[in-house]
Amino acid sequence: MRKPIIAGNWKMFKTRDEALQFVYSVVNKVPDINKVDSVICAQFTVLRCLVKRQGSNLRIGAQNMHYEDEGAFTGEVSASMLRSINVSYVIIGHSERRAMFNETDETINRKLHKAFENELIPILCVGESLTERESGQTEQIIGRQLDLDLDGLSKDQIKNLVIAYEPIWAIGTGKTASSATANETCGFIRQYIGQMYDDETAATIRIQYGGSVKLNNIDELMNMPHIDGALIGGASLNSDDFVELVKAAIK
Ligand code: 13P
Repeated sequence: MRKPIIAGNWKMFKTRDEALQFVYSVVNKVPDINKVDSVICAQFTVLRCLVKRQGSNLRIGAQNMHYEDEGAFTGEVSASMLRSINVSYVIIGHSERRAMFNETDETINRKLHKAFENELIPILCVGESLTERESGQTEQIIGRQLDLDLDGLSKDQIKNLVIAYEPIWAIGTGKTASSATANETCGFIRQYIGQMYDDETAATIRIQYGGSVKLNNIDELMNMPHIDGALIGGASLNSDDFVELVKAAIK
């Protein structure tokens, strides 16, 4: 049985006060960590103060990191820096970073290696654009992302990885993939991992769906056999909604 995982991706939202207010209001309401992993991926400036207040059931993640340990990389933050403040997760390869900040599959691969080296749990985002879906290239695109992004990672590392399937056309658009489509593509990802590694690894890895997940569609998505959770943008910014979204993940 795979433990569900709900992660909020706050993107570039919330000041320190807003972030603290959110965490104070959810920390005693999210369900037991043995039943579901509840994660908030926040911007760098608030990570430390959120980690200090995460309590026993909430965990904190970053939204990006650099692949080097240290060096002359103005404006960047390394995995060891995140680890040193007890951050647990890190989103890697979000489509916004791929599109707007020139992330490539090569840098994503280097980041994944470095995240594991520092005992962070990476949430790797993969997904196709609307043109790619409409021209029937979804599996080819995602297969290629997996080949390049996971290059050189061991079976044991992959078992701890979280993959978020986020179709680019569903992000922030209010246009969710139907639960059947989301499940089909998450199933494809699982099968592909099975080919790259083995059946046990494929059965262990957790795959989230992301893209306009809200209170009105989470139940249907979470009922799908290949969907183990959600990576949620907009709807994760409201503390009451976040708690309800996490509760909905417990089947
Ligand atoms: P929305 O839930 O706002 O569509 O964002 C999805 C996303 O990009 C999560 O990483």
